[in-house]
Amino acid sequence: MKAELLYEGKAKKVYRSSTDSEKLVLAYKNDATAFNGKKKESFPGKGRLNNEISSLIFPYLHNHGIRSHFIKRLNETEQLVLETEIIPLEVVVRNLATGSITKRLGFKEKTPFNPALIELFYKNDELDDPLINDDHALLLTDITLAELREIKVKALEINTVLREFFYTSNLTLVDFKLEFGRLPDGRIVLSDEISPDTCRLWDLETNAKMDKDVFRQGTGDLVTVYEQLLQRLEARV
Ligand code: C5P
Repeated sequence: MKAELLYEGKAKKVYRSSTDSEKLVLAYKNDATAFNGKKKESFPGKGRLNNEISSLIFPYLHNHGIRSHFIKRLNETEQLVLETEIIPLEVVVRNLATGSITKRLGFKEKTPFNPALIELFYKNDELDDPLINDDHALLLTDITLAELREIKVKALEINTVLREFFYTSNLTLVDFKLEFGRLPDGRIVLSDEISPDTCRLWDLETNAKMDKDVFRQGTGDLVTVYEQLLQRLEARV
């Protein structure tokens, strides 16, 4: 199914599909990185878990009116997606303060944001993915003001849908990161992955972390936690 390796990122490899040149194969790796690659470790099973989790979430979003690059899960670690040109923005949506915003701006841990807060980061490893404002985004990428507004509206819609999705698995969606890409016809769709690598998820009752923070903070076994998360999501009614 896959042929030419187009790109290797920290958590995924991207191939061109050998059967359909307009489609890509995303192969999830077992590597986990944090602090922009400064902390790195390989966890056998992680690629499969993120592929499974992401392959549950994208169809759910699709059923709730959110268009994305996702086509289908292919096998344990791979999924087929539409080719998009990635817009180099990380769109972070926050429902509760934690992580970088507490350090950067001094918000008290767990301060609620209502409406959810959106932050933009410039996807650039050399610059350590800096926080940027809308004007920077318009200068640094090819998006228009109308598209930037559309992305933000979409990010809040995705937040509403995902909060409900995770709530029914007894999880609080604390924050998450989205990426968007442009289809050949110019339309912008949700892209990349949605997984415990890119979301913060806390148990509704205990606030136990069920995401990559267990690796970032060295407080738990990543694969065990991701496995528990997948089981919860699969058990949704
Ligand atoms: O580190 P920070 O608090 O800014 O992260 C906000 C959210 O974005 C978290 O859910 C984190 O997992 C996600 N994120 C990501 N990739 C990055 C940076 C943050 O998925 N490069």
